[in-house]
Amino acid sequence: MWKNFRILLKALFMTVPILFLIFILATLVLNFGQQSKPETSIDEETYARVYTDNSTVDSMVYQVVSQNITESVVQLNTTKVLSKNNTTKVLVKNKTTTVVATHNNTNSTQIYEYSFSYLYVPVQVCSSNGTKSDPFLLFVVKSDVYNMANRMAIRNTWGASSNPGIKLVFLLGYLPVMKPFIQKESNMYKDIIQLNFIDNYHNNTIKTIMGFTWVATHCRGANYIFFIDDDYIVNTKHIWNHLQSLYVAEKRSVFLGFVWKGARPQRNTKSKWYISRDDFKDNVWPPYASGGSLVLTVDIINKLLTQFKFMKPMFIDDVYLGIACKKLNISLIHESRFSVRYRPDKMNHLFSSHGFRSPMKLVEDWKKFHIKYDMVI
Ligand SMILES: *[C@@H]1O[C@H](CO)[C@@H](O)[C@H](O)[C@H]1NC(C)=O
Ligand SMILES: *[C@@H]1O[C@H](CO)[C@@H](O)[C@H](O)[C@H]1NC(C)=O
Ligand SMILES: *[C@@H]1O[C@H](CO)[C@@H](O)[C@H](O)[C@H]1NC(C)=O
Ligand SMILES: *[C@@H]1O[C@H](CO)[C@@H](O)[C@H](O)[C@H]1NC(C)=O
Ligand SMILES: *[C@@H]1O[C@H](CO)[C@@H](O)[C@H](O)[C@H]1NC(C)=O
Ligand SMILES: *[C@@H]1O[C@H](CO)[C@@H](O)[C@H](O)[C@H]1NC(C)=O
Ligand SMILES: *[C@@H]1O[C@H](CO)[C@@H](O)[C@H](O)[C@H]1NC(C)=O
Ligand SMILES: *[C@@H]1O[C@H](CO)[C@@H](O)[C@H](O)[C@H]1NC(C)=O
Ligand SMILES: *[C@@H]1O[C@H](CO)[C@@H](O)[C@H](O)[C@H]1NC(C)=O
Ligand SMILES: *[C@@H]1O[C@H](CO)[C@@H](O)[C@H](O)[C@H]1NC(C)=O
Ligand SMILES: *[C@@H]1O[C@H](CO)[C@@H](O)[C@H](O)[C@H]1NC(C)=O
Repeated sequence: MWKNFRILLKALFMTVPILFLIFILATLVLNFGQQSKPETSIDEETYARVYTDNSTVDSMVYQVVSQNITESVVQLNTTKVLSKNNTTKVLVKNKTTTVVATHNNTNSTQIYEYSFSYLYVPVQVCSSNGTKSDPFLLFVVKSDVYNMANRMAIRNTWGASSNPGIKLVFLLGYLPVMKPFIQKESNMYKDIIQLNFIDNYHNNTIKTIMGFTWVATHCRGANYIFFIDDDYIVNTKHIWNHLQSLYVAEKRSVFLGFVWKGARPQRNTKSKWYISRDDFKDNVWPPYASGGSLVLTVDIINKLLTQFKFMKPMFIDDVYLGIACKKLNISLIHESRFSVRYRPDKMNHLFSSHGFRSPMKLVEDWKKFHIKYDMVI
């Protein structure tokens, strides 16, 4: 019995190294087989719609229409032009993927671009080049150019953080009558981004797009961007702590907001929010986040900016964002703590709350609650 066992052991000791050797050899052969494949195998099934107003294919933006690739808009590194007629096939690659893009030069894809000039930009808020000195949390307050008093109240209440990881800027359109006032305000506080489009409700989507553009070019090192309207109260400490916990949990690509699902477009021509079937044909909006208070990251902002080029502008900015997110398969995370109603008495629980009626009310409520509800950081 014992002898048999020893023979068995011996046999085992003999076979294990042989099996191991076979395994090594097999791995080598298989790996070799894989490496000998061309590194840039072209997936003929993968198509992209290409946009460029520029003959240098290097700088083109293209929209992937293949089902395989979830990231539907990417900017890729072009390596080779395969042919040059109206349906040019272009070999484009990023670091990991090679695809064949069909450059559709029939001019059928309408491209929407927005180029406005900055009249004022903030000073010493972001490093402009995406270095570590960009804030962890950047508040971009979409503000009506007239609402100087709201901005003053925000600067003196929830916007007055001494935490160097938090910065505050105001995003404004233009109105000639406000010109001298905005000049003074910008010189004084250096926290104004103003662009030369007319500031009114119908241009709200332009304001959002330009806010995204500014962040993507001047503050791309910031970790979380909080886009908020100028009639909100914020529990700065709560949102800071929440975003810190997301960051630690590696949730570094998010879009948070108060998300509406199943809402319907207004078809009554008398409504402020009337949308024709030409502008939006479905009966239900895609999920969208209330535009007055949302948090997102720079990678998502970049994707959205590319998508906007292919989207007809729509004045309802939150729905416009919802449509872009659906196209890009970006999931919106619902957060009921971005309250759409004004409940300063609930700020021990909420991140933000919408609709203080006057700036005085914000200051008053801040005085009443900011210590009680631990709102300052
Ligand atoms: C065309 O591409 C070049 C190189 O990327 C760029 O410098 C130039 O500004 C582009 N022109 C236009 C009109 O976009
Ligand atoms: C794309 O999807 C098709 C069908 O699902 C599949 O056959 C093909 O291999 C996929 N291509 C890539 C590059 O994943
Ligand atoms: C969209 O994203 C979800 C996860 O966020 C994923 O499960 C799903 O496969 C994606 N759909 C497409 C078409 O890429
Ligand atoms: C494209 O890739 C090549 C090498 O892979 C690199 O040298 C070049 O800088 C890249 N160009 C752009 C515009 O990213
Ligand atoms: C474009 O060029 C390719 C290859 O040169 C050719 O196969 C294709 O038929 C051409 N398409 C058109 C529309 O001319
Ligand atoms: C390519 O497009 C131009 C202008 O859009 C047109 O004049 C020309 O005939 C087209 N060529 C081909 C091969 O389709
Ligand atoms: C390259 O493209 C693939 C497919 O679109 C995408 O999954 C990947 O994230 C891209 N990589 C980079 C570095 O952009
Ligand atoms: C595409 O159409 C626009 C106007 O709709 C025109 O300005 C532009 O020159 C056209 N481009 C080409 C390549 O035909
Ligand atoms: C190119 O444009 C034509 C005209 O709109 C369209 O029928 C065709 O599907 C497009 N091709 C690609 C690959 O997008
Ligand atoms: C980025 O900006 C900071 C501050 O403006 C500057 O000190 C640094 O040299 C810049 N870095 C690069 C790579 O441009
Ligand atoms: C902004 O709104 C005004 C008034 O509705 C309009 O005339 C103007 O064209 C819009 N766009 C810009 C870029 O100012």
